[in-house]
Amino acid sequence: MEIKGNNAIFVGGASGMCRATATKFAAAGGNVAILDLESSDGESVAKELGGKFYPCNVLDHEGIEGVIGAAVADLGSVQFMVNTAGGGAAVKTVGRDGKAHPLDVFQKVIDLNLIASFNINRIAAEHMAKNDPNEVGERGVMINTASIAAFEGQIGQVAYTAAKGGIAAMTLTMARDLGSLGIRCMTIAPSLFATGLTAGIPDEAANNMVKDAAFPRRLGEPHEFATMAIAIYECAMMNGTTLRVDGGQRFAPR
Ligand SMILES: NC(=O)c1ccc[n+]([C@@H]2O[C@H](COP(=O)([O-])OP(=O)(O)OC[C@H]3O[C@@H](n4cnc5c(N)ncnc54)[C@H](O)[C@@H]3O)[C@@H](O)[C@H]2O)c1
Repeated sequence: MEIKGNNAIFVGGASGMCRATATKFAAAGGNVAILDLESSDGESVAKELGGKFYPCNVLDHEGIEGVIGAAVADLGSVQFMVNTAGGGAAVKTVGRDGKAHPLDVFQKVIDLNLIASFNINRIAAEHMAKNDPNEVGERGVMINTASIAAFEGQIGQVAYTAAKGGIAAMTLTMARDLGSLGIRCMTIAPSLFATGLTAGIPDEAANNMVKDAAFPRRLGEPHEFATMAIAIYECAMMNGTTLRVDGGQRFAPR
């Protein structure tokens, strides 16, 4: 897909990996809509990128439909959607105190990551389906964010693993569902990246967390996620899979 003159929605675009992707997309001549929490830096980020900010909470599953609709109406169409809104909880299935993992915590993590991602995808895909196809038949590209935690089975990550594993698992099915419409669906699974809360981890602790990576042994940078996201957007053969962006990192159980 071409960037120049095309339009994109960045959910979680006020910060970190999604912001870096929006920045690259805008720098290459694309038009951007930044969707993020009202309390985020969305307003200033959108201004910096020549786009518009749409405050939203992806947990408001009905409300997000109107927010995406408003962004698409302003942009005229949408060819690219990147979603990074998400997060986890560190709780064991049965804790040291002998108490079971609270079910509501598990449900909240599934809601924020898996349900919200699917909701955003189904709405974005409906809008993309209305596009005229480009010369190779593409109408749009959607990228979701999992984590290598989806595959690593770390202790205390059961809710996050289930949620991110669900995002990875639905990628091929959704790509197949949307193939006849020329809409591609991909997922990126980052290792530890220097964004949000992770950016504040002291160097010594961060070095210890990435000591088992092959290379480079450091936290990923937001622009490295963005490089992968833009490559996916531009390469028509990228579809239906989850790509690890992890420097060869594999986690031990804890
Ligand atoms: N940083 C890491 O080490 C790492 C590793 C693997 C996966 N991830 C995944 O990456 C995503 C986070 O991206 P980031 O690392 O760039 O962090 P970040 O905090 O810099 O950006 C995330 C953005 O999402 C927004 N957001 C959060 N909840 C939202 C909600 N309910 N509604 C709307 N917007 C919301 C935040 O305001 C923020 O701007 C999450 O899905 C996380 O699970 C992060």
